[in-house]
Amino acid sequence: MASIELKNITKSFGTEENRYRVLDNVNFTSNAGEVTIITGPSGSGKSTLLTIMGALRNPDDGEVWLDGTQVNQLSSREQDHFRLEKIGFILQAHTLVPFLTVNDQFQLVDQVKPTGNLAGEQFDQLLQTLDVSQLLQQYPAELSGGQSQRVAIARGLYTQPAVILADEPTASLDEKRVYKVCELLASAAKQQGRAVVVVTHDERMHDYADHIYELVDGNLTKQC
Ligand SMILES: Nc1ncnc2c1ncn2[C@@H]1O[C@H](COP(=O)(O)OP(=O)(O)O)[C@@H](O)[C@H]1O
Ligand SMILES: [Mg+2]
Repeated sequence: MASIELKNITKSFGTEENRYRVLDNVNFTSNAGEVTIITGPSGSGKSTLLTIMGALRNPDDGEVWLDGTQVNQLSSREQDHFRLEKIGFILQAHTLVPFLTVNDQFQLVDQVKPTGNLAGEQFDQLLQTLDVSQLLQQYPAELSGGQSQRVAIARGLYTQPAVILADEPTASLDEKRVYKVCELLASAAKQQGRAVVVVTHDERMHDYADHIYELVDGNLTKQC
């Protein structure tokens, strides 16, 4: 079963004469067990597309299907619940809570979703792979860009989501860590059967992709 399917998605921003179309009749599929990359120039609508895919935003038209549910038809409360249970976000702004230590970012997730999260050895292993174990008592403001990106990646994977949506996850990382993150995301797909969608300019990630799409001026085309 396709894990993610977008059918004829359109999205515009602005009002009246300033209205412009950011996504124009977009179709997209991503399956469990695959890494799918979406590339394209800055401002082409990649982040908008990813937030629609993750039910953080609704399209003007079209259908968003995740794991057999049409999520754009759900109430916003149902969407909240669906996201929590099924989707791991790794967003560009890293979205760490400023007044919580790194450790408490994970505890907060436990409070809203108490079961099915990584624990014990598996959790320690994830923190070690991302080299953030030593940051657990730090606050977000005390982290470098790369450190907060790595913490955000750990938090995105923490809930063991069926779907992982990552927006430029390697933008602040040094070379060695780019490959570690690629391997982590590929293993989330291959070993754990998750559907992984990555928005990125980073060509180093292409080797890890099963499929690549390109978004240009709101038109999405499948490259391979
Ligand atoms: N909430 C919003 N309101 C109005 N315009 C927006 C909003 N979000 C994005 N845009 C515009 O939509 C276009 C695509 O943005 P975005 O999806 O962030 O592109 P990308 O991630 O490819 O750089 C840009 O012109 C951006 O300014
Ligand atoms: Mg973007």
